Amino acid sequence: MEQAGSNINNIIKVEQGDITLLRLDAIVNAANESLLGGGGVDGAIHRAAGPQLRVYNSTLGGCATGDAKISPGFNLPSKHVISTVGPVWKGGSRNEDELLSNCYTSCLELARQHSCKTIAFPAISTGVYGFPFKRASSIAINTIKAYVEAHPNTFQEILLITFSDQDYTIMLQVMREAAIES
Ligand code: AR6
Repeated sequence: MEQAGSNINNIIKVEQGDITLLRLDAIVNAANESLLGGGGVDGAIHRAAGPQLRVYNSTLGGCATGDAKISPGFNLPSKHVISTVGPVWKGGSRNEDELLSNCYTSCLELARQHSCKTIAFPAISTGVYGFPFKRASSIAINTIKAYVEAHPNTFQEILLITFSDQDYTIMLQVMREAAIES
């Protein structure tokens, strides 16, 4: 039998690049409550998916912080877009950690309900929303790890996609620390 630790490390991976280029069952979007597009990764995903994503999302009734909604991928190589709304960083005492963790859990829950076995996340809230990157990485990894442990045999691959060289180095370090602890 495979040990929980090694099993999880085979599933969760840190990679660097542009999330819109991936061909997976789902990619996650760091959206805003309107779900109608914006800057950063949200802008890139809407540009690559095409205008149909905005039209489709306009029927979803928006999305609360920490929650998630699913859409088709339209012109993207990936089959689905799972949009979530991360918390805006306000210093750390406004429940930001829990809300960020809720984003990852909500996305994984939706992915599981739609039989998505491969999924990629951007570093939610770490751009315009200002969440400190290392703290956000640790929440992302610990939340995903807990979900995978609670739902074995559900996911084949969960990618954490970082954009800059610096973010990649930090996320990888946090991932290694989490692996040592498991
Ligand atoms: N692929 C992967 N990661 C990316 C890409 C990409 N193509 N582009 C940016 N990132 P942000 P937030 C990284 O600002 O902080 C939007 O306007 C980026 O380096 O996109 O959750 C929405 O509409 C950073 O690490 O999202 C909201 O209003 C991470 O993605 C607001 O921004 C998230 O940065 C959401 O802010």
